[in-house]
Amino acid sequence: MGSQYKEGYMIDLQLADKTHDEQRQGEALIIDAPVQQNSRKLYIESYGCQMNFADSEIVASILLDQGFQTTGDYKEADVVFINTCSIRENAEQRVRNRLSQFGAEKRRNPKLIVGVLGCMAERLKSKFLEEEKLVDVVVGPDAYRDLPQLIGQVEEGQKAINVLLSREETYADISPVRLNGNGITAFISIMRGCDNMCSFCVVPFTRGRERSRDPHSILAEAQDLVDKGYKEVTLLGQNVDSYKWKGADAAEDAEIEVNFAQLLEKVALLNADLRVRFSTSHPKDITDEVLYTIAKYDNICNYIHLPVQSGSSRVLELMNRTYTREWYINRVDAIRKIIPGCAISSDIIAGFCTETEEEHQETLTMMDYVGYDFAFTFSYSERPGTLAARKLEDDIPEKVKSRRLSEILVKQQEWSLKRLQENVGKTLRILVEGKSKKSDLDYCGRNDQNAMVVFPASENIKPGQYANVFIERCTSATLLGRIAD
Ligand code: SAH
Ligand code: SF4
Ligand code: F3S
Repeated sequence: MGSQYKEGYMIDLQLADKTHDEQRQGEALIIDAPVQQNSRKLYIESYGCQMNFADSEIVASILLDQGFQTTGDYKEADVVFINTCSIRENAEQRVRNRLSQFGAEKRRNPKLIVGVLGCMAERLKSKFLEEEKLVDVVVGPDAYRDLPQLIGQVEEGQKAINVLLSREETYADISPVRLNGNGITAFISIMRGCDNMCSFCVVPFTRGRERSRDPHSILAEAQDLVDKGYKEVTLLGQNVDSYKWKGADAAEDAEIEVNFAQLLEKVALLNADLRVRFSTSHPKDITDEVLYTIAKYDNICNYIHLPVQSGSSRVLELMNRTYTREWYINRVDAIRKIIPGCAISSDIIAGFCTETEEEHQETLTMMDYVGYDFAFTFSYSERPGTLAARKLEDDIPEKVKSRRLSEILVKQQEWSLKRLQENVGKTLRILVEGKSKKSDLDYCGRNDQNAMVVFPASENIKPGQYANVFIERCTSATLLGRIAD
């Protein structure tokens, strides 16, 4: 998933129950723009998945049109927004802790407007205003166009809320302001919401019905990124394989239907030097057509995030994932056959309701069957309102959940190391993303399979260019090498 995984991430992963969602928590998003006199200042902090980060860029774009500037320091802001995640209880707890810090600032500066956006806003709605007295405005993910009006309401001394979900909103016409970007890799939202009802998951409740964005606007956004010098785009959706759009073609003289494989092809054809990634694929929906499209185009990366959640068919059924162990294995076999060398990553939940030791073992044997390049692993966290919360008992003791989780982590660490070791002695083509986090003397970048590679910087190669890097050694998270002669 492109730069979704920050350098060093896999090391962190070994230590705690954290996701890619939570890794980038609490990042303040700022843009460099000339400071206008008297403009109001917006501070926006995002939690959760890449879709939330992409939404913050939409929010910034909407408020920039209203004359706001972004700031990286909430203490100098007129408006502080926190774009929130509800996926697990600890994600929500983190947001509440942060809100209490903003509360202290508000006591110092009573004019400060504090807003809660995103999935927690949608889940808790007006309860937020009752529970957290310092919050002035609560806005769900489909209501960001209403922000200027809602801020106006707060300025008149009222509390403001809009948590209406929409069946149509895709913000297709809003060009996101690229916040904190490296100018090389970017995310493009291709759809919103989710129509699957995985029994553990809060997303269908917080993000609403699935809808696909007009492909013309997706292609225009990708082209604009290419024109600005970007070299990699990641197409984002909760289930990209169910992308489907029906409407007029570019000339508006015929009705066309575009599925995900076709969209992927169109984006790949824009520019042969633009790398294309995507996330997330759903095992029940990923088609051979998608796999053949990936195989056909060199610039579509050989990397698929295909969350399995559990290796047991009985647990998968309780999770309402609508595939079995055998079906998942069939999809993995198809990937191996059609795209040899394709990296595969996963999300895995430990200790879902009623999971037995044998079923947990099936998850471990599934991990051995696939040999995941990476995996994001979680302890099951019951979410209010979900099917599982209503129908199943969260009966696996915390101790058992965390022991199972650590067995999964250990296994994944072995596989991550093994997969990375397969690259030692090879020369890989790396898109240089910038200086490494640990040293200014090193560059970092990724190969096609999404492995992070660190190597000594060279004056002859700049970030945004490709480098051929000879891999000398690796850790379980990073490949280390030098630019090949
Ligand atoms: N749309 C993606 C998942 C988005 S949420 C998909 O279908 O794969 C990211 C991950 O969080 C999920 O894959 C799942 O592994 C995890 N997750 C979601 N709800 C959870 C819960 N209640 N407890 C623990 N992990 C959860
Ligand atoms: Fe949640 Fe399932 Fe939708 Fe993914 S596919 S967002 S896990 S309901
Ligand atoms: Fe979290 Fe909402 Fe994303 S619950 S993972 S921010 S869709």
